[in-house]
Formats: sequence, C-alpha cells, structure tokens
Amino acid sequence: MKALVLAGGRGTRLRPITHTRAKQLVPVANKPVLYYGLEAIAAAGIREVGIVVSDPREMLKPDHRTGELVTVLVNSQAEIRAAVGDGSRFGLKVTYIEQEAPLGLAHAVKISEEFMAGDSFVMYLGDNLIKDGVSPFVREFEREAPDAQILLAKVARPWEFGVAELDGERVVRLEEKPREPRSDLALVGVYLFTKSIFDAVRAIQPSARGELEITDAIQHLINTGRNVRSHVIRGWWKDTGRVEDLLEANRIVLADLQPSIEGTVDEESVVEGPVHIGPGTVVERSHLRGPLVIGANARVSDAYIGPFSAIGEGVTLSECEVEHSIVLDHSEIRGIAGRIESSLIGREVVVCSTDARPSAHRLMLGDSSRVELA
Ligand code: G1P
Repeated sequence: MKALVLAGGRGTRLRPITHTRAKQLVPVANKPVLYYGLEAIAAAGIREVGIVVSDPREMLKPDHRTGELVTVLVNSQAEIRAAVGDGSRFGLKVTYIEQEAPLGLAHAVKISEEFMAGDSFVMYLGDNLIKDGVSPFVREFEREAPDAQILLAKVARPWEFGVAELDGERVVRLEEKPREPRSDLALVGVYLFTKSIFDAVRAIQPSARGELEITDAIQHLINTGRNVRSHVIRGWWKDTGRVEDLLEANRIVLADLQPSIEGTVDEESVVEGPVHIGPGTVVERSHLRGPLVIGANARVSDAYIGPFSAIGEGVTLSECEVEHSIVLDHSEIRGIAGRIESSLIGREVVVCSTDARPSAHRLMLGDSSRVELA
C-alpha cells in the first residue's frame, strides 16, 4: 500500500493568502494542514508516498464559476519540497511527482501510475483534515478488497463538493459540484484505489471546467461493473478550502490542545484554559484565554487573546484584542480599539492605529483581500 498526496491546485477561495503560499501549507493550530495528512498516512503504516506538485507559473484558465479566462498562479512546488523534504521527519519516503498544470485530480492519478507500480494506494487531498486519520479506512479496504473505496460525510452545502447517490451501501452515482445535489453526502478528500483506477482515468474526458475529474473516473469504475465501496464517516472532516472552514478546523484541533508554556509570562498577565506558548515568546500585562497557541519569539503586551486563536512565530500583538482567529508569522497588530474576531491574517501584515492627520482609514491591501470594519 502506498499513498498519493495532492499538493497542487490553486486555492482561489483562500486568496490573498494563497497568492504567496500553497494552500496545503496554511497552518491550523500553527501546523501546516499538509502535515496532519502526512502524519495520518504514517500512522496507518504506509511508508512510500508520492506528492503531486506543480511548478510556480501564471497561466490562463477558465474560472469554474463564470467560465471567464483568468490568470492564476499555480502553487510553488519549491515551497512544498522545502516544508516536507524527503519525508523522513514523518517516517515516510517521499517521491515528488510533477504535474505540469492543474488538470484535475484524475490527471494527478494518471501521472502517478509508474510510481504506484501496480500497488493499491490511498489518495489524500493535501488540504483535507480528518479526525479519525486514515488507518481504519485502510484496514477496511485491505479486509474487504473492493476495487475502490470512497469516504462520504454529510454536509450542509453539498453543491460545493463531489456528491454521491447511494442504494444501500452501493454507490450508484457520483456528481462533481452538482447544481441540484441528489443527496447531502459529500466525497471526502480521501480515496482508496487499486490499480483498476488507471484504466478509468485513461477512459474519461475532461469536464466543463477543463479538468479530469476523479468523480468521473470512479463513476467509470461503477459503470464498468467494478466494486466501489462507500463508508460514511462519523468523526469530523474538513476541507480547508475556505476561511470559515479553516477557522473551524483550527477550533476543532485546538479543542484537544495540550497546554505548555515555554516562553515567559509576567506576573501581571492572566492565563486561563489550555494555552501553548512557544520558546522565546514574551507575554506582558495581557489576558490569555485558551484554548490558544502562540508560536516562538512572539511578543504580546497589553493585549487580550481569546479562545481558538493561533498566533504564529514572531508576531507582535499590543493594545489589541484577538479571538477565534489565525495570525500568521511576523505580523503585527497594535492599538486597535475593537476586537478582531474570526479573521485570517497573513504573514508580515501590519494592522495598527495612527494619530496621523487627516484622520482616516489608510489601507494597503493585496489583491483579493477583504476588510470588514465595524
Ligand atoms: C475536490 C473534489 C470533490 C471533493 C473535495 C473534497 O474538490 O473534486 O469531489 O468533494 O475535493 O475536499 P475541490 O476542493 O478540489 O474543489
């Protein structure tokens, strides 16, 4: 059994963060989303992992909502390679598989045929987080020996996912992002395949959005009489493609936080609930209410940090209140009167008050940024 981890894609729903960073490396509780997946694969006893990456380049692609041609920047594989390396840190042996363009999940499968060399594999979308890991599903797949196995989860907005129609446990039909979903069962981004999937990906045609869809490939398995099992998962699962989902994933992971304070907290500060503070971090005259994490070498003064916050390395927070938010490395928030809540703040961002005249809001925001002022 091998694993195929997909770390390409565009991350359009997380712009502007993903203008400069692969969506799989956006942190949840201060750890890149992708690491959770790699740890889950290692925990399932899998050693050989292919990671599909693409070159950084701008290209024209039809927007999948409007059909208009838009310029997109494809993720940097250098960044993924730097973050994961040879995988030994995770107990894995990683091989990078280069995808020349984001041509779809089934295309990623197609180009990994040589690497798989006839073995079965678990395919894991690098921006997915799944509570139970993958071990129970890998064991079930080995025991039942179907041609393919998909995982399903009930969701509130099925039209944003691949959707399955079942007859008992048998999968009858799969549709990618249907306008009128036939069920509320979404395809989770974890799939188990035997080598039969390679015939299927060769047989299908690109969809309307110009991609080879994995849902079409699995549908092809069904149509040609293959045994496709489904498993409706009970534990939580998150596709971290949108800010709301990323914040929820952060909340879920922080709920199990093991507290530890490696930095220094002065006597005037109050620490409540589970809090992790990284080495070199200084907290003074502040109120921390966990669960929350603060990375290394941060400085928090005269501030309140509320539950479900993840504050990155080297961040400065002073005279401000932050709650239920993710603040990435080396950003600075100071002198803000209202509470900052449910926010995702990128790297090296400055949010500050000023006495400069004329008194006004002065903004310098990257493309696709969003500011909501109360
Ligand atoms: C992909 C799949 C979709 C699946 C989802 C899970 O969509 O195409 O079938 O439900 O992942 O995360 P994407 O998030 O790439 O649009």
